[in-house]
Amino acid sequence: MAIERTISIVKPDAVGKNVIGKIYDRFESAGLKIVAAKMKHLSRAEAEGFYAVHKERPFFNDLVNFMTSGPVMIQVLEGENAILKNRELMGATDPKKADAGTIRADFAASIDANAVHGSDSPENAAIEIAFFFASSEVYAGR
Ligand code: TYD
Repeated sequence: MAIERTISIVKPDAVGKNVIGKIYDRFESAGLKIVAAKMKHLSRAEAEGFYAVHKERPFFNDLVNFMTSGPVMIQVLEGENAILKNRELMGATDPKKADAGTIRADFAASIDANAVHGSDSPENAAIEIAFFFASSEVYAGR
C-alpha cells in the first residue's frame, strides 16, 4: 500500500476548545505519523489563498473570517493511505452527518466551525503541503 502525506489543520474552534492533543491522538492511534507541525494565526491573504478553490462559493467570506478568527495547528501526516485515512478520521463536512467516533462528530459544532481540515486528493495534498511547509521542514516518518 502507498505511503502518502497529507495536510491536516486543527481549526480555530478546536484549538480554542483545547483539544489539539486529543485530535493528534486520533492520528497516532490510526498509525499516522506527524512529520511536520506549526501553529499559525493565518492572515486573510493566507486563508484566501489556501481556500482559493472555494472563492466563488457563497460561504467563502465566512470561511475566511472563521479561519482567521484564531490560531490553527497545521501538520503533515504520513502513513499508508494517509489522505483517505485522515478523511475517514475527520468524518463528514457537516458534523451532524459525521459518523459516530469521528473527529467532527466528537469535536465540531457546525458545518462552518468543523474542527479540522484534511486534503482530499494526492494533488491537493501536494499543493497544500507546499503552501505551508518548505521541504526541509517535513521529516521522514521512520
Ligand atoms: P469542503 O471542501 O466542501 O469540505 P471539507 O472540509 O470536508 O473538505 O469545504 C471546505 C470548508 O468550507 C468546510 O470544511 C467548511 C466550509 N463550508 C461551509 O462553511 N459551508 C458549506 O456549505 C460547505 C460545503 C463548506
